[in-house]
Amino acid sequence: MTGVTELGYVVFGVSNLAEWRDFATQLLGLEAFEEPGEVGRLHLRTDYWHHRIVLEHNDADDLLAAGLRVAGPDEFTAMGDVLRGAGIAFQLGDRALCDARGVLELMRLADPAGNPLEIFHGPRIDAHKPFHAGRRMHGRFVTGDHGGVGHMILRHAGFDITYEFYKRLGMRGNFEYRMPMPGGMFEGLFMHCNQRDHTFAFGPPCSKSINHLMLEVDNIDDVFMTHELVQASRYPVMIHLGKHANDHMFSFYMASPSGFLIEIGYGGRPATHQSEYYVRDTYGHEFSAHMGAGMALDK
Ligand SMILES: [Fe+2]
Repeated sequence: MTGVTELGYVVFGVSNLAEWRDFATQLLGLEAFEEPGEVGRLHLRTDYWHHRIVLEHNDADDLLAAGLRVAGPDEFTAMGDVLRGAGIAFQLGDRALCDARGVLELMRLADPAGNPLEIFHGPRIDAHKPFHAGRRMHGRFVTGDHGGVGHMILRHAGFDITYEFYKRLGMRGNFEYRMPMPGGMFEGLFMHCNQRDHTFAFGPPCSKSINHLMLEVDNIDDVFMTHELVQASRYPVMIHLGKHANDHMFSFYMASPSGFLIEIGYGGRPATHQSEYYVRDTYGHEFSAHMGAGMALDK
């Protein structure tokens, strides 16, 4: 199988690394650590992988890389052939970059909207270092069965060109929401590459590359616990508790220190592998007063 198999890691550029450390560990429950001697870079873990999220200290406050995994070296070579055949430019990562990402090989490219991607194989798994949550948790983060770190909604440059691009990478999917809105019909395109309902989705207006990152937990009490912690914090709840019609995720959304949103969810169902669409969510997910008009719709 040539196609990508999961969203293995994400890299964010953040302007306030110290604030992010507290947000990630004390609110989200992620494990944070620095490699010896490293300055301006923080690794975040959710499982046995060396890291699932890297925070680089810079002013982007946006996505710097979305790491999409392929199975191994043969699939990596085959993906290069696919990209060359489609006229899609990419650059192979040098040893230093591969070491920084904790992968055997990677290539860098951009999607039609300029979203930064890295296709890689061979992540570093620290089997000797079990996940240690940054604060108390009832359960664990869900990353198994190649579900990857979670899902993201990204900026797009048109549905047709986006669909064709990600189809070449081995993803499939279609519109999962068609909602009548005051400004016209809102549509959301959802693409998957494994059992997770969607790995990338497109539709809401995005001032940055990323609209939100979703992290899934395996115990609903962790959604409510995080919600309670966020309500007592200075980070606003942006979309209230609710259940998505497409992936059945029970979730809410908060603003991160970088402005883009983090969704914490429980109970996502596997991808249906057959297209279907919805006109609203199952329940909830109302926008909070902090949500600007026309901002991050996740429907
Ligand atoms: Fe989401």
